[in-house]
Amino acid sequence: MDSILVTGNGPLNGQIPIAGAKNACLTLMPATLLSEEPLTLTNAPRLSDIKTMTALLQSLGAEVSSLQDGQVIAMSSHNLTSQTADYDIVRKMRASNLVLGPLLARFGQAVVSLPGGCAIGARPMDLHVEGLEALGAEIELKDGYLHAKAPGGLKGAVHEMRFASVGATENIVMAATLAKGTTVLKNAAREPEIVDLVECLRKMGAQISGEGSSTIEIQGVDRLHGATHQVVTDRIELGTYMLAPAICGGEVELLGGRMALVESFAAKLDAAGVSVTETQNGLKVARKNGRVQAVDVVTEPFPGFPTDLQAQMMALMCTAEGTSVLEERIFENRFMHAPELVRMGANIEVHGGTATVTGVETLKGAPVMATDLRASVSLILAGLAAEGETTVSRVYHLDRGYEHVVRKLEGVGAKIERIKGE
Ligand code: EPZ
Repeated sequence: MDSILVTGNGPLNGQIPIAGAKNACLTLMPATLLSEEPLTLTNAPRLSDIKTMTALLQSLGAEVSSLQDGQVIAMSSHNLTSQTADYDIVRKMRASNLVLGPLLARFGQAVVSLPGGCAIGARPMDLHVEGLEALGAEIELKDGYLHAKAPGGLKGAVHEMRFASVGATENIVMAATLAKGTTVLKNAAREPEIVDLVECLRKMGAQISGEGSSTIEIQGVDRLHGATHQVVTDRIELGTYMLAPAICGGEVELLGGRMALVESFAAKLDAAGVSVTETQNGLKVARKNGRVQAVDVVTEPFPGFPTDLQAQMMALMCTAEGTSVLEERIFENRFMHAPELVRMGANIEVHGGTATVTGVETLKGAPVMATDLRASVSLILAGLAAEGETTVSRVYHLDRGYEHVVRKLEGVGAKIERIKGE
């Protein structure tokens, strides 16, 4: 397995291009199942999760080709041969469950493996099931698979979700586009990736309003046609790289960044003493003066502080002046980066869903292990600011969500290289 060697090398300066959003692409790709006509995505990120979704769609009989070095994904699900998403693919990537709604809507049946737990939590699918059952689906759990059918087709309904689940919102909205009648989805998730999905579905002929608010209304239509859609900028990659000058000093411009994508995160950075300003080409980030100040963080559904930036923010708080309390309210086990940061000299105490971080002047490089996607990049951020060398192992986690990390950070002066594993 490969590892990444990072050596603390002082302030970072220059530009980092931000790619298309992994979590938008992973819901836009299954949308191809809703139509017989081709769906093409541009500005797609080059990530292993995208390859996994490609393999899943191909296992269903869809044609998926990756063009222009992976930045364009051309898909057609004209001749599907299966409506079963196998465990061996779904267990690798939970987002595989996003084929459930589209398959049910187009074919009236779907067999999708439960994803099983992952490092950050149990990640059940009860909210997906409740929403699709509200649309008339009959769903039964058998041998670890959800067996879903809607023989007479799905019917529009009013449904309020118990929690604003991102994936459940995406599955229900996609299914409702082909249901008979009107669906009103209440307590819907408001993430920008959902807004991006709706904009794509609308290009395909769907009739949807309210995206980005807690109530989304969908008028079912008989069929959807093809489209071409540009994937929205990845706000989590954006936020991650905003932290690089924050933790190391210097000034970095994030190309393609937009303040609207990271409003609450940028406000937290501002309170910590890091300036974020909009430029012609993106966002410019720099410390306002010396050491950053400790701030408290509570993760919440959008537009609150994103859970996917909690691990990275913790790395910054490890070097801040004062004590920061980070509360993780979305996932039950998302502090696995904490013990690894402690190996680097951080002062962190975890009690249940709360981590208390008392900042230290400097972290010390050490061998550490990535445990999940966002934890892996938080360790790299810590290594950029630490004294000496940090080796991050198991970087396959990193490849799931960050393209060309070494090249992007080298480009702003970081001392970083990828070490080929056996
Ligand atoms: C999406 O996951 C993202 N993944 C996650 O990003 C992100 O952390 C999460 O939303 C929250 O923002 C993709 O978009 C591919 P949820 P999702 O349904 O849809 C519980 C990353 O690092 N829940 O909003 O699975 C669940 O257990 C990944 O890029 C139920 O209880 O998130 C969790 O505690 C990690 N029942 C909470 O809700 C359900 O039926 C949030 O889950 C569904 C979810």
